[in-house]
Amino acid sequence: MPADGMAPETGLSLPLSTGELGARDARELRELLDGIRARFGLSGAGYKERYFRRRLGLRMRRLGINRYADYGRRLVDDPEEYGRLLDAVAINVSRFFRNRDVWDALRRDVVPALLALDASVHVWSAGAAAGEETYTLAMVLAEQAGTTQALDRFSIVGTDIDTRALERARRGRYGEEALAELDAVSRARWFEGGPPWTVRPELRKQVDFRTLDLAVDGYPGGQHLILCRNVLIYFERTLQESILARFVDALVPGGYLVLGQAETLLGPSREMFRRIGNRERVYQRA
Ligand SMILES: C[S@@+](CC[C@H](N)C(=O)[O-])C[C@H]1O[C@@H](n2cnc3c(N)ncnc32)[C@H](O)[C@@H]1O
Repeated sequence: MPADGMAPETGLSLPLSTGELGARDARELRELLDGIRARFGLSGAGYKERYFRRRLGLRMRRLGINRYADYGRRLVDDPEEYGRLLDAVAINVSRFFRNRDVWDALRRDVVPALLALDASVHVWSAGAAAGEETYTLAMVLAEQAGTTQALDRFSIVGTDIDTRALERARRGRYGEEALAELDAVSRARWFEGGPPWTVRPELRKQVDFRTLDLAVDGYPGGQHLILCRNVLIYFERTLQESILARFVDALVPGGYLVLGQAETLLGPSREMFRRIGNRERVYQRA
């Protein structure tokens, strides 16, 4: 077996990843999720069930396992398998300036207000993947302020559940595809080398990355802007609602929240924000 513990695709049919489960499989899945939560804290229960089963199914197929109970035993025997499961569940696809329109809206409607504050400013990219979104935010702030030093009074933090993605974020090295949206001027301004492209140290030192599971960990308070894009879509509605309610508490009054294009406010949080603009998912807290 290769070093990453993955067997080649076995071609096993895996009815477990889709469709209704029989009683035995449903029980084994519940036990597996309880075991994962108890041992590792992964909030598997909060992911949309079909999504979680599909991603889990990928791992099981790779290992040639077709019972949830057997996969649970595998996790006990080989704790590194948990990291591989996490990689399969936590899809880290991102890129710099993903959805340009959102960044244009931020430049127009949000960044001037943040730069005008005379206190220290806290911005948070929640579900930061390998840091593309967090660095983009730092770039936009620095460009509009006119200098990178202006970021000294900003706390710019990217968090994710996936520690390996965060290690990549701290290294700040990216392939060509992550920079697809950047023109030559921006590349030269913010990156060295290439490819791989490395974020310039003066920008890297302005940004912090930390592990944070949005389902279970405490949130940093006093935020002026929270970006949480393309993360909530993976979660069940109840978890989405509770995360949104906790974002309300984490934001200062008048602070901003940005969601992904396929995401929206749910539950009581709808009363707590006004939408800015018509098309982008940019909201301001009451
Ligand atoms: C598709 S990426 C989005 C990256 C970036 N926000 C963007 O829009 O380009 C989703 C990220 O959410 C993270 N994620 C998934 N579950 C999470 C959880 N419970 N807590 C924190 N982050 C989570 C994944 O690890 C992944 O990096």
